Amino acid sequence: MREMPPSWAADCGDDVNAPPLVTALDARTGLPADLTYLLARYPREQWRGHNNLGEMARFWLARHDMFRELGRMLEAATTDFREGQLATAEFRVFFAPRLQFFLEQLNDHHYVEDHHYFPLFRAAEAKLSTGFDLLDGDHAALHARIMASVEAANAFLRALADGGDAQMRAAEAYAVASGALLGGLTRHLTDEEDLIVPLILDRGEAALGVGH
Ligand SMILES: [Fe+2]
Ligand SMILES: [Fe+2]
Repeated sequence: MREMPPSWAADCGDDVNAPPLVTALDARTGLPADLTYLLARYPREQWRGHNNLGEMARFWLARHDMFRELGRMLEAATTDFREGQLATAEFRVFFAPRLQFFLEQLNDHHYVEDHHYFPLFRAAEAKLSTGFDLLDGDHAALHARIMASVEAANAFLRALADGGDAQMRAAEAYAVASGALLGGLTRHLTDEEDLIVPLILDRGEAALGVGH
């Protein structure tokens, strides 16, 4: 797998010195209560049939579903390999291009959210501002986990080429790094949708400046 650009590593990460917050990615079980007043008005069951769920939101939700699905596929393939149900050559051909695609697309997705969508949504609803702080923090934490996964995956792929016992140790190290990324990502995607989709349904994409 191609090494990821070092610029990804700049200026982010889980801050081990930060006080414990209910907003922290791994400690949360959902959005804090003060950020769910729009979700209460527009619960998930209503999203798909709502007139204000436009092209942007449908595409964006589909990207989230793609990340969930690809994450599950990569995790399943890694487990199959570690359990001896997938041969090395077969695993490598499946795993390397998909992981690279997954991580590159995820990085691009975060970039667009950080630089385009979040500023527009934040400006539209000041009361949700701390929600966007929370999502910004998630992106920083996930970025560090992407970098850790890239490093572990590259070590794993090198170990696969060498063969021997080292490949199973490298596979385990990758599975730990990947588990931290996918666990955090799953939480983030749900909370991000719960914050943003109700805002889109409330205002409409054109009014928010994200319509086509
Ligand atoms: Fe995000
Ligand atoms: Fe997202």
